Amino acid sequence: MSMKKDFLWGGALAAHQVEGAYREGGKGISAADVMTAGTRDIPREITAGIQPDKYYPNHEAIDFYHHFREDIDLFAEMGFRCLRTSIAWTRIFPNGDEQQPNETGLAFYDQLFDYMLSKGIQPVITLSHFEMPYHLIEQYGGWRSRACIDFFTRFAFTCLQRYHTKVKYWMTFNEINNQILVDNPIYAFTNSGILFTPADNREQVVYQAAHYQFVAGAMVVDYAARLDPALQIGCMVAAQPHYPLSCNPDDILEAQRQNRKQYFFSDVQVWGYYPSYIRQYWQRQNYQLDITQEDLNWIAKGKVQFVGFSYYYTCVVTADETVARTGDLNAAGTNTVDNPYLKASDWGWTIDAKGLRYFLIELQDRYRCPLFIVENGLGAYDELQNGQVDDPYRIDYLKAHIQEMMKAVEIDGVDLIGYTVWGCIDPVSFTTGEMRKRYGLVYVDKNDDGSGTLKRYRKKSFDWYRKVIASNGRAVWDLDIKES
Ligand code: BG6
Repeated sequence: MSMKKDFLWGGALAAHQVEGAYREGGKGISAADVMTAGTRDIPREITAGIQPDKYYPNHEAIDFYHHFREDIDLFAEMGFRCLRTSIAWTRIFPNGDEQQPNETGLAFYDQLFDYMLSKGIQPVITLSHFEMPYHLIEQYGGWRSRACIDFFTRFAFTCLQRYHTKVKYWMTFNEINNQILVDNPIYAFTNSGILFTPADNREQVVYQAAHYQFVAGAMVVDYAARLDPALQIGCMVAAQPHYPLSCNPDDILEAQRQNRKQYFFSDVQVWGYYPSYIRQYWQRQNYQLDITQEDLNWIAKGKVQFVGFSYYYTCVVTADETVARTGDLNAAGTNTVDNPYLKASDWGWTIDAKGLRYFLIELQDRYRCPLFIVENGLGAYDELQNGQVDDPYRIDYLKAHIQEMMKAVEIDGVDLIGYTVWGCIDPVSFTTGEMRKRYGLVYVDKNDDGSGTLKRYRKKSFDWYRKVIASNGRAVWDLDIKES
């Protein structure tokens, strides 16, 4: 079993979760900069601006801004062929509504991408990864406002213009579908800069924001095609496959209904139109949305060329109201139930490697376009002992998922561009703001209270992943991976 020779093995990060330097080089305040730290059980707080008595873990993060050469050297040692990260919107347009970009911010990403390329690592870039300028949130209500189409496209066109010779694969909005989980307000805030008010019909607000994002995303696809036909623009969604709890047709229909709620976000961006199921739903709900014919023309014109997605867990649903819900806001939403066949991580995320194969096949059959697994990994407690981190649980997790991914490609015929391990160097957790929910193949000495030397250490999984890449995936099947 082997993968295409140019398969993009690598890792994934997001600017706000690693860069730190939150005020350097003229950077403005972003949504991530006003979020405090939480835990699995205590949600992160979104504060009104930065408050002096609060701790904001993203302000320093792991200081990738100053350590990127050292970190990229480590990624190169593992043999990464690509690194997915994001461009912090606020480094380029600090407030978001300026006419001219900030040259210092642009120059930083030139240095970063040039360094990656010099090490044979292709940058894969997300334009908006929970990093909306806070000024746009305060002044315009985030993506509630149509004005954000202009602000975002100005940012996106600036980046495409500047970096199109260095970056081929781009994604517009990270996990754009998360915001439909309206019970947890963190998602509407991080996806779209929306702070719900009691008067809001949350779902309607989110569909409106998503519509403006679809239009802006389509304009980006169109611009990129005219600028440089080699560019590939994708959408990016969080995989949320919902299984029925039983073969009771009511459960099957409930799972299908929930899945469509998620697929909606990629359906529109891949197909270029609003499917009838959502139009009818909006009508039934009496949602009044600002959608013009011109918008629809854009959406039809700017269909994405690939689908990028993150994959962490699967969900289970039932129509039976008497079955207890897990009510886990941190993962799949409030209406899901436990899966008796699966174990979960320490943060309650079910571990389901076969679900990855299932989801890849589902997407392939639905869209018939290239797919890209741009996030997958295990958030776990790691212990640094005598400069070593032994993380067999992470190796087991990655191994099982990579095996299922390879089956999907080699047996099921899925067209897959690449696979990037999420948080390849320990980042700040998005949902909890913790450091101790670690994903990396590289450990960073940074703690939840902000202490730590920021020194980097290779974990056991580092060498394991190096062998996987060097063997183009064969190592997960054939080799007895010895400690070395
Ligand atoms: C995805 C995000 O939701 O999952 C990342 O795109 C995030 O930003 C990752 O970090 C893992 O989530 P968490 O909360 O464990 O960091």
